[in-house]
Amino acid sequence: MTHPVLSALGLGADESGTYLGNGEWSKTTDAGVLEPVNPTTGEVLGRVQASSQADYELIVERAQAAFKVWRTTPAPRRGEAIRLCADALRAHKDALGSLVALEMGKSKPEGDGEVQEMIDIGEFAVGLSRQLYGLTMHSERPGHRMYEQWHPIGLVGIISAFNFPVAVWAWNAFVAGVCGDICIWKPSPKTPLSAIASMKICNEALRKAGFPDIFFLFNDGGTELAQQFVDDRRIALVSFTGSTRVGRQVGERVARRMGRSLLELGGNNAIIVDETADLKLAIPAIVFGAVGTAGQRCTSTRRLFVHESIYDDVLGKLVAAYEQVGSRIGDPTDPANLMGPLNSRDAVDAYLEAVEKAKAAGGTIETGGAALTDRKGYFVLPTIVTGLSNDADIVQHETFAPILYVMKYRELDDAIAMQNAVPQGLSSAIFTTNLKRAEAFLAAWGSDCGIANVNIGTSGAEIGGAFGGEKETGGGRESGSDAWKAYMRRQTNTINYSDALPLAQGIKFDL
Ligand code: UN1
Repeated sequence: MTHPVLSALGLGADESGTYLGNGEWSKTTDAGVLEPVNPTTGEVLGRVQASSQADYELIVERAQAAFKVWRTTPAPRRGEAIRLCADALRAHKDALGSLVALEMGKSKPEGDGEVQEMIDIGEFAVGLSRQLYGLTMHSERPGHRMYEQWHPIGLVGIISAFNFPVAVWAWNAFVAGVCGDICIWKPSPKTPLSAIASMKICNEALRKAGFPDIFFLFNDGGTELAQQFVDDRRIALVSFTGSTRVGRQVGERVARRMGRSLLELGGNNAIIVDETADLKLAIPAIVFGAVGTAGQRCTSTRRLFVHESIYDDVLGKLVAAYEQVGSRIGDPTDPANLMGPLNSRDAVDAYLEAVEKAKAAGGTIETGGAALTDRKGYFVLPTIVTGLSNDADIVQHETFAPILYVMKYRELDDAIAMQNAVPQGLSSAIFTTNLKRAEAFLAAWGSDCGIANVNIGTSGAEIGGAFGGEKETGGGRESGSDAWKAYMRRQTNTINYSDALPLAQGIKFDL
């Protein structure tokens, strides 16, 4: 029987994972099957037919043809197309939010929040469609004008992760769409249904209004098509969200063909709590950051540095809060629950392995540290570990699970140095009411991350800012601010409207 959350979105128990354009979904049934699992029960949610080599070729050919039309469409008109997508998503927010919660395992409010992020970036992109500004420069030559303009880059490949199965696509696709690009999406094999539903909602809105196909979708039965995608010279930009391990391979392969890549990889995000911090803000921010989405955000809080004078107090409050969360773990589609399952059996194994490594390194489990074996699904307890130093192997490593390493510090400089002393550089935060310390944290010699916050946690970034981080996080920026520039090519133009041909730098070349 088809799950009612799927039926509400018009999805059946056997879906094609390939959108070919022209309103057609591929009929391929011999390229493998994806079977996304409901992480709450461990049961298969539905079957998704993977894409064939021929499907992939047809998509790329059609995307190339669509680009020829889309690049000539005025950017504000492209914005209108994205406005229709955002409107359609608004109409389906509840149903799509439920599907995201069901298939990924995040709570219903977080599933809805993810669809809200899609709507928000859609509206941002509509405004952006009239603001793809270039600069004008003063030429050093008389009678010359210089300016720069931004052109669409072409085909954009989007490879997204299971933890934000729809929002990350929208950050890329809606911005790339107004920039004049055509997007081809390969979603996570763990969440293909959320991707299919998003494509149906958006593509139907575009087709009804007579817009060309700008969004394509394929699902890979193995990794062959994905590898080909990364190596494909016709894909001008590959935007990859996922682990540092895979991201490194993607970055290297795309660089080898001198394509562009945009990498959003792992984080190892920390919060610093100083002795002046308002704990009414800090405690819930830490708990949401570490436990929200069961610790499966790239921005999840993984390390906590607490001033030694308030360490015992903060730890006691956190343990009490974690125990409250512990009694509200369950089906994420039930709004009474604060935490859902991990997404897969593998994730539970990685969590248990991290707990063992933490113990072996001399860490103390203050709370949690175990999987919930009294029920079906992939549930674990949110966990706090103390007694490890920042340079312990397991603390340096991103485990995609709700494990928080709590450490003490005496001097702020030491806390900032520890917070920076990891390979990743995504998100960071300080809780303080001391202005000087807040500013020191944000200074050039402060946090080395792409995101640095004061008195809010590490996760839950708004779409208006540029999202991404440094070092092994990959350096890419998506979403707001001027992240759109990654999806366009810059052209510098110099126009001579004089009767002479002066050369730059005053060079004389008299014939
Ligand atoms: C991710 O985990 O890949 O800042 C993205 C946040 C969300 C996005 C996270 N807005 O937590």
